[in-house]
Amino acid sequence: MGQFDGKVVIVTGGALGMGRTTALEFAREGARVVIADINADAGRSAIAAMPAGAGHLSIADVAGATDCQSVVADAERAFGGIDILFNNVGIQPTTSYANVENTTEEMWDRILGVNLKSYFLMSKFAIPSMRRRGGGVIINNASVQGLQSMKGVPAYAASKGGVLSLTRQMALDYAAERIRVLAICPGTIDTEMVRASAVNEPDGVEAALERYGRSHPIGRIGTGLDIANVVLFLSSDRASFMTGEYVCVDGGYMAMGAWASGAGAAEA
Ligand SMILES: NC(=O)c1ccc[n+]([C@@H]2O[C@H](COP(=O)([O-])OP(=O)(O)OC[C@H]3O[C@@H](n4cnc5c(N)ncnc54)[C@H](O)[C@@H]3O)[C@@H](O)[C@H]2O)c1
Repeated sequence: MGQFDGKVVIVTGGALGMGRTTALEFAREGARVVIADINADAGRSAIAAMPAGAGHLSIADVAGATDCQSVVADAERAFGGIDILFNNVGIQPTTSYANVENTTEEMWDRILGVNLKSYFLMSKFAIPSMRRRGGGVIINNASVQGLQSMKGVPAYAASKGGVLSLTRQMALDYAAERIRVLAICPGTIDTEMVRASAVNEPDGVEAALERYGRSHPIGRIGTGLDIANVVLFLSSDRASFMTGEYVCVDGGYMAMGAWASGAGAAEA
């Protein structure tokens, strides 16, 4: 018996990265899983890795309302409704880190569209289906960058801060209807996104990933499974008294003050 037998889950951006690992873990635990993704090849390969009949691929660009409505309709047609929505999709510019002056309007709109607007749209269209089933869970993928920042990522950081605010807000609107809304804040996780952004590192991708790991108190970067385990817990009845909250899954990164991490840090 699986922990999510009888449940239907949508994972946006579930073809690759931590979305894929989480989608596969839900399927392994008995859920029916709809992957909503723009990448058809990777999406098909993720569905093929699930138990027969457990997965459905909905090709979609979730930055727009029409595609989000199609994903929800696909889930209802394929599996009869929706219990859990993992708003996971996210993009980060890999080549053009920029301050606000050289962030183009197009870049801003695309990043906010994928990283924040899609969370609003997918929730908007999935909630009526959850309501018909007597409740549900929405997990939003934010980032430690929603809590603290770094240079050169204004659109990404703003999108992640927005995800955390939206999480709190939706949690209040839907608590009485037994729809819980939570966020996770990953630290650095070994995914296609991080590997793509590490290609320009002078020490090479593998060395850079190890170096990023050393900046996390636990001494390594995270894996997709580190994230999937927490998402499955938050989605389960074991977390039934949690809503409107975020959980850092970051190897201790947010616990550490900047004064304690750099070379020459003083002992205070
Ligand atoms: N990897 C990290 O270190 C890290 C850290 C903190 C937060 N995050 C967040 O975690 C989430 C997942 O990141 P990841 O590293 O697994 O990313 P990834 O790039 O490895 O995978 C993202 C997936 O989203 C899909 N996608 C992109 N744009 C889409 C669109 N418009 N419509 C539908 N699908 C689309 C891609 O095809 C891909 O399958 C993102 O929200 C990201 O911001 C990542």
